Amino acid sequence: MSSPLSGKHIVLGITGGIAAYKSALLARLFVKAGAEVQVIMTPSAREFITPLTMSTLTGKPVITEFFTANTGEWHSHVDLGLWADLFVVAPATACTLAKMATGVADNMLVTSYLSTRADVFVAPAMDLDMMAHASTARNLATLRADGVRVIEAAEGELASHLSGKGRMAEPADIVAALEAHIAQAESMSGKHVLITAGPTYERIDPVRFIGNYSSGKMGYALAEAAARRGARVTLVSGPVSCVASHPSVRVVHVESAREMLDAAQAAFTDADVAIMAAAVADYAPATVEDKKVKREHTPEISLTLRANPDIAATLGEARRPGQILVGFALETDNEQANAADKMRRKHLDMIVLNSLRDAGAGFGTDTNKVTVLHADGTTRAYELKSKSEVAEDILNEIEACAH
Ligand code: CTP
Repeated sequence: MSSPLSGKHIVLGITGGIAAYKSALLARLFVKAGAEVQVIMTPSAREFITPLTMSTLTGKPVITEFFTANTGEWHSHVDLGLWADLFVVAPATACTLAKMATGVADNMLVTSYLSTRADVFVAPAMDLDMMAHASTARNLATLRADGVRVIEAAEGELASHLSGKGRMAEPADIVAALEAHIAQAESMSGKHVLITAGPTYERIDPVRFIGNYSSGKMGYALAEAAARRGARVTLVSGPVSCVASHPSVRVVHVESAREMLDAAQAAFTDADVAIMAAAVADYAPATVEDKKVKREHTPEISLTLRANPDIAATLGEARRPGQILVGFALETDNEQANAADKMRRKHLDMIVLNSLRDAGAGFGTDTNKVTVLHADGTTRAYELKSKSEVAEDILNEIEACAH
């Protein structure tokens, strides 16, 4: 079977650590998997392994400097960054991690890193005390928050003869991590995913509305994650301050539950998966005033509210075989039973339960703690995680139920 790395363009950054000798094997494995590999070495990496070794293995001249000294040929870090499908730094020293975390672009490798749009991986390798140092932990946390994936160093004997965490992951494990990433990255390609997100605003008059505290963060995280897996995403969004940056996410902005229903129904016809993450207002004023209600003339008002349409249930009635419909449930008590009941009533395949009793779950936070219930009765409870990690868990659950 061909490797998911076949045909991919990989920039392999090598920095100055003793583990650089393992980069030769790594480059060899990439080439064997069918990838095209361009090596960039930092100046100190050349003290550990020769450019000749790397250019022989990859069939391409190694780049270290911004230009070739005798010809003046300029190496464009922008072109290299854009050429890459994957950008891997292995080994990544404490120094290079710090430069990447802070944008110190004083060599070709870090400059190319800042120019790339590819998914970036680092495989740290250093002595155990450097690995355990607060500054390394801080830089790795910054890189993770910037979207860099860290292939963890292993425990074992180090070049210093000390033993501990700091050995670069084995080349075969780095290849496996990249293969798994690519396989996941393309797992939703060709799929159309519909997501509702955010609150709805139900108008009282031209300046006032009934709304709720939903921030839209969970729905937007799901949209970005599905797009990263190759899906075409329609994100029907109530009024929020989040923005979707992935080019495969089309945002349809709506305000009220009625508008959200219309947009969701239109997109549902050819959707493969629909995820109802919006906090739809349950009621809307029965009449909307066309002029601002003046307090001076209206010492007391009462609003008559009418139930809004249930978007999830409406799609649940209209669904075709093979379409997957997922809902959310925010509960305060009797959580699992209420969520399971909602799943049945709305004809959902899966429901994601958050409990308002869990600290860090629910509205406005950057984290969430969910339990996933499937129509077949299986249930899985997850730890408190960032909303983008929760989005990955939810998509994994959806992909498992699609099989
Ligand atoms: N939902 C929807 N349209 C509505 C209300 C809810 O699509 N008018 C969806 C939500 O997006 C969510 C699921 O239904 O995926 C459950 O929402 P929730 O507000 O918990 O359920 P309700 O049906 O409103 O039940 P209740 O408020 O009584 O708990």
